[in-house]
Amino acid sequence: MTKEARLIIDGKEYTFPVITGSENEDGIDITQLRNQSGCITLDPGFANTGSCISSIAFIDGEKGVLRYRGIPIEDLAQNSTFIEVAYLLIWGELPSSKQLARFSELLTDNAMLHENLKNHFEGFPWNAHPMAMLSAMINALGCYHKELSDLDAHEAMEAAAARIISKVRTIAAFSYKMTLGEPFIYPAPELRYVSNFLHMMFSVPHKKYEAMPEVVRAIDLMLMLHADHEQNCSTSTVRIVASAGANLFSSISAGVCALWGRQHGGANMAVIKMLEDIYDGGMDAKQCVEMAKDKNNPFRLMGFGHRVYKNYDPRARILKMACDKLFTKLKHSDPLLDIALELEEMALQDDYFQERNLYPNVDFYSGLIMRAIGIPTNMFTVIFAIGRLPGWIAHWREVVEDKKGRIARPRQIYTGYNERHYIPIDKREDK
Ligand code: CMC
Repeated sequence: MTKEARLIIDGKEYTFPVITGSENEDGIDITQLRNQSGCITLDPGFANTGSCISSIAFIDGEKGVLRYRGIPIEDLAQNSTFIEVAYLLIWGELPSSKQLARFSELLTDNAMLHENLKNHFEGFPWNAHPMAMLSAMINALGCYHKELSDLDAHEAMEAAAARIISKVRTIAAFSYKMTLGEPFIYPAPELRYVSNFLHMMFSVPHKKYEAMPEVVRAIDLMLMLHADHEQNCSTSTVRIVASAGANLFSSISAGVCALWGRQHGGANMAVIKMLEDIYDGGMDAKQCVEMAKDKNNPFRLMGFGHRVYKNYDPRARILKMACDKLFTKLKHSDPLLDIALELEEMALQDDYFQERNLYPNVDFYSGLIMRAIGIPTNMFTVIFAIGRLPGWIAHWREVVEDKKGRIARPRQIYTGYNERHYIPIDKREDK
C-alpha cells in the first residue's frame, strides 16, 4: 500500500505522497506544498530535510552503519583500497581487474601539473592555509581542462575523475612543500597512489622517502573511510553548486571551502589542538569535558558528536583500531593518544554525553594517525579532502545526470522590516 501524509493548515487538509527508500526510510514529498497551500517548511540546518534522492551511500545513524553502494564500510576497510572504493562510488560497482588497471593508469598519467599551474603557488604567502590553496588551485585546474566541460560521455567523465583525484594529491603535496620552502617533488610513475603522495610530501632532492607498507595502508584506509558520507555540509555544497550548472572543478573547489570549517572537516585539526592544550597544561581532561558541557561556553568536545550518528561512528571504531595497530608497528608513543583515550572514557561515562548520544566521530582518532606518520596538523583537513573527492565526484555526477533536477534554491521566512522609504542622508539621525 502506498503511504501518504496528511497536513492540516488552518483547518484545510492537504495530502502528500510518502517516498520510501531502499532501506525503508520514509520521506514526505512536499514538492507541491507551496503550490497547494502557500506555506513553506522551516528547517534550519536541514536536520529533517531530504535534499535529494541518492543511491551512493547509506547511513543508519542510530545503529552506526555506513555502506558505500550497499557494501559495509567494515568490509571495504578489511578488503579494499581507496582507488577501488573511488571507482565503486563514482561508477556504482566494484571494478573488474581490467577496469581497475585502466583507472590506475589514468591516475598515473594525470599526476603531473601543468608547469604554469605550478607557478600559481608563488602567488600565495608562505603561511597560506593549505585548504585555501587547495580550493583556489582546484578552480585554477579547471581552466586548464576546458575540454572536460562536456562530461556526458563515460570516457570524458572517467578522465575528469582520474585527473582531479590524481592532481589534487599533487597540489596538496606541493602546497606543503611551499610552506617549507622546499623544492616541489614530482610524482614518480612507478609508485601507487598513496606511496606517490607520501613521496611528493616527504622526499627531498637528495633523499627519497621510502614509505613503510603499514604507513601506506593507514593513509589508504583513512582516505577510504572519508570517501563519502552522503549529504554532509561539503557534499551538499558540491551538489548545490553543481545544480546551478557549474563544472566539476568549481563545484569541488566550493566543497573544499565548506570542509575547511571546524565543525566539519576542520575538526580533525581542532582535536589535536584541544589535546595539545591539555598536554601543555592549559587544562586537564576533566576541565575540558566540563567546559564542553557548559552552555555558556561555545567550546565543544572536538571529535565528538555527529548530526546523523547517535551511536559510535563506525569510521571512528575502525580508525581507533588502526591507530593502535600503527603505533605498535612503528613502536610509536604519543601522550596525546593517552589523553584522547582518557577523554573518550570520561565523556562516554558522563550523563551529558550519554543523554545526547555523543560519541567519538571520524575526526577523533584520524589526527593521531597522521601525527604518527609525520603529517603536519594544518594538512589534516587536506587529507580529508583528498579522501572525500570520490564522494564529491559521484554526487556531482548524480546531480548533472538527473534530467529532472532543478537548481537548489531554498526559501526563507522573512522577519525584517516591512516596506519603508529611503531617507536622504541629511535627514538621518546622527549615531
Ligand atoms: N561537545 C559538547 N556538546 C555537544 C557536542 C560536542 N562535541 N556536540 C553536540 N553537543 C550538544 C549540543 O550542544 C546540543 O546540546 P543541547 O541539546 O543541550 O542544545 C546537543 O549535543 C545536540 O547537538 P547539535 O548541536 O544538535 O548537533 P549538530 O547536529 O547540530 O552538530 C556537530 C553536529 C558534529 C557539528 C557537533 O556535534 C559538533 O560541533 N561536534 C564537534 C565538532 C566535530 O567533531 N565535528 C566533526 C563532525 S564528523 C566529520 C565531519 O562531518 O566533518
